[in-house]
Amino acid sequence: MVDRRGFLSSFAGAAAAGATLNFGGELFARAAQAPAQLPDRGLYDSNEEAYWAELRKQFVIPADEVYLNNGTVGSSPAPVLRAIFDGYNETEKMAQSDPEDYPIWGYAAWNEFRDPLAAFIGCKRDEVALVRNATEANSYIANGVDLKPGDEVLMTDQEHPGGEHPFNLRAKRYGIVVKKVTLPKPVPNAASVLNLINDAITPRTRVLFFSHITTVTGVVLPAKELCALARSKGILSAVDGAHVPGMMSLNLHDLGCDMYSSSPHKWLQATKGSGFLFVRDEVIDRVWNTIATEGWDDTKIRAERFQRIGSSNVPALWGLRASIKLANDIGMERIEKRHRKMADYLLGEMVKRGAESWTSPDASLRCAIATVNVPGVQRTELEKWLWQTKKIRIRGGDPSKLRLSTPYYLLRKEVDRFLAAFDEYRHVRT
Ligand SMILES: Cc1ncc(COP(=O)(O)O)c(C=O)c1O
Repeated sequence: MVDRRGFLSSFAGAAAAGATLNFGGELFARAAQAPAQLPDRGLYDSNEEAYWAELRKQFVIPADEVYLNNGTVGSSPAPVLRAIFDGYNETEKMAQSDPEDYPIWGYAAWNEFRDPLAAFIGCKRDEVALVRNATEANSYIANGVDLKPGDEVLMTDQEHPGGEHPFNLRAKRYGIVVKKVTLPKPVPNAASVLNLINDAITPRTRVLFFSHITTVTGVVLPAKELCALARSKGILSAVDGAHVPGMMSLNLHDLGCDMYSSSPHKWLQATKGSGFLFVRDEVIDRVWNTIATEGWDDTKIRAERFQRIGSSNVPALWGLRASIKLANDIGMERIEKRHRKMADYLLGEMVKRGAESWTSPDASLRCAIATVNVPGVQRTELEKWLWQTKKIRIRGGDPSKLRLSTPYYLLRKEVDRFLAAFDEYRHVRT
């Protein structure tokens, strides 16, 4: 058995002791200082903010930093970092019990990682492939489905480049057609999205591709209804769920999509470079592989053939598994409730300050991302000022959009620090 805390502390000690061993230094030390136990459920019931404040201690983001950009990338907390370090400790000794085993993910089933993931996202193990991120998974989708020149892929105008461009590549090289619907900002309700998509479907539409939660405004699109619409017309549905695992509860079978991609390094705070591709069992045989090594065409191994990607990093999967355990230990219900509460609070405060909301007024179409437009504010200047003078990180879009992410570990007082800083900026700069 690896003594996790002991392992970490020995690194922290070694790092402090000698420059030659100083790999990891401050990060190891901070992760080692995190409380060994998660806070008690009783604390949540008696004092919710205190409960989240305790959980905040699991994160290595310094206490004086406010991180409102979890939507771009999450920060792996101590339990995840420990698991990654333990993964290295276990694997790099080259002492696997079977001499045919190597610590390389990319050639086998790795069910010890797929099983907890499949349970967490509501699908079967054989429908999920461990890949490295949503961009990679989206590329499998765009390259993998049979499409003829002139066949259409319908998407929204709020797709991330890592979702849109795999299809643009295919369009440029093989003549498929990418069509986009423009989503209103904000999206008023689910019906408006369904109508827009329905009206844009033509007899040539073969794939409906959309983000479950968009990168542009954080709107939660009505994925279940959109997938049902696609299915009713014989169109494949492919959903980019980069933001969803860890932000909201997810059940892929209930959602009813044909394909789903994700980057759990965002809201699940998993390892960077641990992603997944889901392909519904009924559709797997219709999807070609993109990366080919032994097993690329072996239909018996179902979605596993998409994770035959060549030598990859097993400790990344240790981190992914630990991030799932952490989310389950806290409880996705609690996490999602917290996400909604904090984003709603922040959005309300920004609107009071005159910001234009680009966040849906329909509560079912928003979660942990509040997006506002503040005409007159130059977002890059604000981003730099906040970081350089206040140690606050936000993310925006030109010219004046602010996308504010509220992960569960963000404290109310940290949101208030941002609001006070925003007021100060407007006072001194505009
Ligand atoms: C909706 C969406 N899809 C895909 C991506 C790309 O994620 P990754 O860089 O992890 O592949 C992002 C990243 O922000 C995103 O928001």
